[in-house]
Amino acid sequence: MEQRVILSGIRPTGILHLGNLLGAMRHFVELAKDPKNFCMYFIANQHAQTTGMDPVSAAEMQKELLGIVLDFMACGLDPNSDNVLLYAQSSIPETSELAWMLSCVATVSELMGMHHFAEKREALKTGSDTASTGLLTYPVLMAADILGPNAHLVPVGADQHEHVELARSLARRFNNRFGVEHFRIPELLEGPGIRVPGLKGQGKMGKSEPKGTLSLHDSPDLIRTKIKKADKRLPDNLSTGEKSIEPRIEDQPGIPEKCRVYLLHALACNSAAEEMEIQFGCRRGTLRCGDCKHMLANRIVDMLTPIQERRRELNAQGGEKLALEILHEHGKRARAIIAPNVQAIKELTGIPTY
Ligand code: TRP
Repeated sequence: MEQRVILSGIRPTGILHLGNLLGAMRHFVELAKDPKNFCMYFIANQHAQTTGMDPVSAAEMQKELLGIVLDFMACGLDPNSDNVLLYAQSSIPETSELAWMLSCVATVSELMGMHHFAEKREALKTGSDTASTGLLTYPVLMAADILGPNAHLVPVGADQHEHVELARSLARRFNNRFGVEHFRIPELLEGPGIRVPGLKGQGKMGKSEPKGTLSLHDSPDLIRTKIKKADKRLPDNLSTGEKSIEPRIEDQPGIPEKCRVYLLHALACNSAAEEMEIQFGCRRGTLRCGDCKHMLANRIVDMLTPIQERRRELNAQGGEKLALEILHEHGKRARAIIAPNVQAIKELTGIPTY
């Protein structure tokens, strides 16, 4: 059977949260259930170094790396399945060699023009910039991650689309220059497009606003407390109107589509009927906001409880040692796929092994 290589990386930046689960992990787990997909998922620990190159970050990242492996498994990814590889980016040193070669194909201006560098451009002009070269070339390393194993499909969120586009451009440019069809041109795989708002504040759920973030490991009590205190008004950037409005005053009829509690219900519901119940109750003013939040907390507790139980089982089975074994074994297998390709590219570009 001809399999398609599906590749994606997840940056180890803090404990995984509900936004990661709904936006990415669930999608990754589903993709791995199709035997036509060969799924290469890795923890992008070298990308994490662009923002954490110091002893404290180093220690944190090492710990998180193993936690992510276990969380992936707790969310349903089966590393014993023969179409799944779950590895650390750093287990394949050849990817860095490929990134070097690709950095000699990418231009400075195209990297400086990219999104991830936007904030730094102004600071560069005034000489007040402290961004590292690694941050500038971040997308080149990502292109190497993708092109090294000749991935067919790359499932990533909207913030990463430009980076996949760069990988496609570099692959075409390289192929044209050398007159070969060496690199496959990878395709972007649109995900569920889910943007999970934080419970508080203006942005997506994430570690920038810890009080508004539900970690996969939060206890039921903590989940209930955080949801009780959640803002209702949508973050401005998720609001379809000009500016977000208060969706409901006391027990007056409300506007569910303007409320983040409703949006979270819609993401967590198991059926359209469940969602309708909330929607109608809010619109008519019969479902009180406090009760609506209480129902949301129950839904999220129900969603996270089996994941937390599975994680406890994994811990009991050896936890971090188990994760290390997987990283070691899968890292070797991923390297066996990627290294020969990088070797071939080195030879093509005039640097065979002497
Ligand atoms: N840059 C991605 C992120 O921050 C992580 C990543 C690194 C990645 N290399 C990749 C994703 C290759 C897809 C493919 O989320």
